[in-house]
This record gives sequence, C-alpha cells and structure tokens, in this order.
Amino acid sequence: MKKNATLFFCQNCGYESAKWMGQCPACREWNTFAEEPKAPSSKGRAARAGELREPIALSEIRSDDQERLPTGMAELDQVLGGGIVPGSLVLVGGDPGIGKSTLLLQVCRALSERLDQILYISGEESLQQIRLRAARIGEFSSSLKLLCETNLADIETIVLKMRLQVIVVDSIQTMYQESISSAPGSVSQIREATGVLLRLAKQQNIAVFIVGHVTKDGTVAGPRVLEHMVDTVLYFEGDRHASYRILRGVKNRFGSTNEIGVFEMTDRGLEEVPNPSEYMLSGRPEGASGSVVVCMMEGTRPMLLEVQALVCRTNFGLPRRTAAGMDYNRLNLLMAVLEKRLGLPLSGYDAYVNIAGGVRLSEPAMDLGLVLAIISSYRDTPISDRTIVFGEVGLSGEVRAVSMAQQRVQEAKKLGFTRAILPESCLSQIRNGSGIELVGVSTVKDAMKAL
Ligand code: TYD
Ligand code: MG
Repeated sequence: MKKNATLFFCQNCGYESAKWMGQCPACREWNTFAEEPKAPSSKGRAARAGELREPIALSEIRSDDQERLPTGMAELDQVLGGGIVPGSLVLVGGDPGIGKSTLLLQVCRALSERLDQILYISGEESLQQIRLRAARIGEFSSSLKLLCETNLADIETIVLKMRLQVIVVDSIQTMYQESISSAPGSVSQIREATGVLLRLAKQQNIAVFIVGHVTKDGTVAGPRVLEHMVDTVLYFEGDRHASYRILRGVKNRFGSTNEIGVFEMTDRGLEEVPNPSEYMLSGRPEGASGSVVVCMMEGTRPMLLEVQALVCRTNFGLPRRTAAGMDYNRLNLLMAVLEKRLGLPLSGYDAYVNIAGGVRLSEPAMDLGLVLAIISSYRDTPISDRTIVFGEVGLSGEVRAVSMAQQRVQEAKKLGFTRAILPESCLSQIRNGSGIELVGVSTVKDAMKAL
C-alpha cells in the first residue's frame, strides 16, 4: 500500500513533515504548512539509469577543464569569482523591481557578442515587454534567443535540441512541471524545477542563471529552498529610491563570498560603478559642519561614505532623534557616551543623522565617524574635507581597533584624502602609511582634540 502520497511543506523554508503543524520547527514561522503531493524522486531514477561509477583519485582529476567564461561586466565577474563556470547554476535573488531581469538581459547582451547560442526564458513577461526593455539597453546580436514558456518539460526538450552555453530562467517561481499538481511557486514545484535545471546544467555543461523573487509573506516560497541546490547565490539589493544597486555573493562554490559588485540604475539599464567611493562622495558639501567621511568595508571592498549629522536645540522636553541608514539605538547609545564622557549637554538637543546615498551602515567601525559628525554639528565647526575617520566606540568612551585598517587607509589615500583619524591600536597594522597623515586616538576625547 502506498503510504504518504502527500506531505506538508513549510512554504517559507521548505521543511517537510508527515503531518500538519502550526509552527515550522525549522524557521519558526507560523501557519506556513501546505499539503503538497510528494515529489517523485527523480534523482534516484537518474542515478540508477546510469552505469556504476568508479571512484577516482583526487590528484588525477584535471582542473584545467574549468575554463571560466568572462561575462564582460567586470563587477559581475568579480562577484562570480572571475567569470561564469560552465555547467554551474547561479541563483540571482532580490526584491521585485530591483532590476534582476535588467541585469540578466544585459549579461546576455554582453555574452551574445562572443557566444553563438544564448537562451533567455521568461515566464513573467511577453516577448514585446522584453523587446521594450531591450530597446532601452541597446542593440542585441542575433545569437540571443528569447522564449516565453513556463512548462518545464517543453523547456527541457527545447534546450536539448539547441546547442546552448548559457540559459537564463526568469523566474523560477513561474515554472511548473505538469506531473506535480501543486501551483507554480510552491515548494515542490520550485524544487522540481531546480532539479530539472540542475540536471540540464550538469549533463549538457550549460551555465544556468535562475531568477528568484524574495517575498515577505509565506505564500510564495522564497529562493531559500533552492539555496542549497545551486552552486552560487547572488543577492541583488538596494534601496528602491536610491539608484545604486549592490550585487552580493552569499554562496559561491567557485569563489569567495566576500565580493560585491556595485551598479547604478540609469534610464539605459544598469551601469557598472567601478569606483563606488567616488560615486558615493560626489556632491558632498564643502566646509559644512556635521559632515564626516567614514570608511565601511563591504566584504573585502572598502567604501567611503558620508555621514551627516544635524544637532539643534530641542523645543520640547524630549529630544527628537532620527537615524536614516543606521541603527537608531546605536545613535542613542553614542550620544549617551558623548554626554557622559565628554560632558556635552546633548539631552537638550535634537539629533538627525543621515548616511548619504541611501546606504545602510551596520559596521561598528563607523561609530567614531558618527561621534565626530555629532560633535562637529553641535559646535558648528566643519571638519576638514580631506579627513577620513573610522573606529569603534565603547561605552566608556574608548576607541577600539577595527579590522582591515590597511585597506581603509589605502582607499582613502587613493581618493586624495590627506588625514586619517583611526584607533591608536590600528597604527601597527598599517605598513605603508606614507602620503597620508595618520592620527591614532584611544578615546573619544583624543579624537575631539584631533579635530
Ligand atoms: P526589473 O529588471 O524588471 O526588475 P525585476 O526583474 O528584479 O523585478 O527592473 C525594473 C525596474 O528597473 C523598473 O522599475 C524600471 C527600472 N529600469 C530603469 O530605471 N532603467 C532601465 O533602463 C530599465 C530597463 C529598467
Ligand atoms: Mg523581472
């Protein structure tokens, strides 16, 4: 007798269970279980169909057959670890409307100049819609083929007929397998679709890009379910209102995950931003109080950003504070440190802090910059334009060491900064400090004097 023809799947994380549960034990979300038919295990069938494989000595495997294919977009290549690996499965996740389809269409355009067969499969937009988008981006060569299809079996047949090197599937949530009765976008459909694409990628040695939407509510399974099935996971993120976008590697079997790529959304598609610091600092006011340049690390990449603070006397008993682009509680904490350790009467002042460019700072290394921006605005004395600041501030007003001081100083030097205020204990990390004046500070008080 066939037992358990259906299972219950958490629509948020893909956890499977024989019975319904109110809360998912894996991701702790409530009311996310839905009944779905158990997927036929296609993996088992594929393994049995082939002949038995012999174990091979690791040292005998040639590594030179991993030729990488540069995409022609330097920022993307960097995130991928030097180009596309043939036969790899790359998932590009991100909020709707962030620019995933645009990015992949541009990748196809760059690749189509060198490859003779690329297929862009869209389950979301009609050919006309893609044509309209393409018209904004530029000219396309005839080696890029478009296909509007959501049936996986048909897609498989078409792909096997063509000799392809790269496929783009936009998006995985729209693909469906007829043999599975649940709706497209459900966990079993997504899993099956990824399984089919994985088989195509590995057997035909085709690089496959998959687009996956991230949604907050649990009805559509996010790409988290497939994160462990694919080779590389990239997240495309950014503020809807800011034009810059960051492509971040979250998982990469063929490279480092510490890399980011920076793009700007323009009216002609995405443009690469090879020097993000310069871009973020453009339009900075000269000689204005309350403006400080800090250095944030994004993985291994330093990025200079402007922190702005506005401190003014409060009209009410309770001071108002707002923090855009950083943690509100961190701002309150740092202001309390200033009040206690430096004796500044900040509890009678409103404070508004903003990180220019719409970036979100989460690194403790920006504490010192923030503190100095507040002091500068409070005293209404500008800080020199050519000064960069980084360091973590502790509760007793001490300035603590941060990682990668060398890279931060290097980046500042590259952009023409002449002075760096940094933790005293970081000075020993800096090997080549010529050309920039290094001011080591060990407390907030020292830092204030250094201004
Ligand atoms: P899209 O790639 O459709 O997003 P996703 O596939 O992640 O849902 O991007 C859509 C947004 O990008 C849309 O709001 C319009 C904007 N856009 C531009 O600003 N300039 C352009 O040249 C293009 C093609 C899109
Ligand atoms: Mg899209």
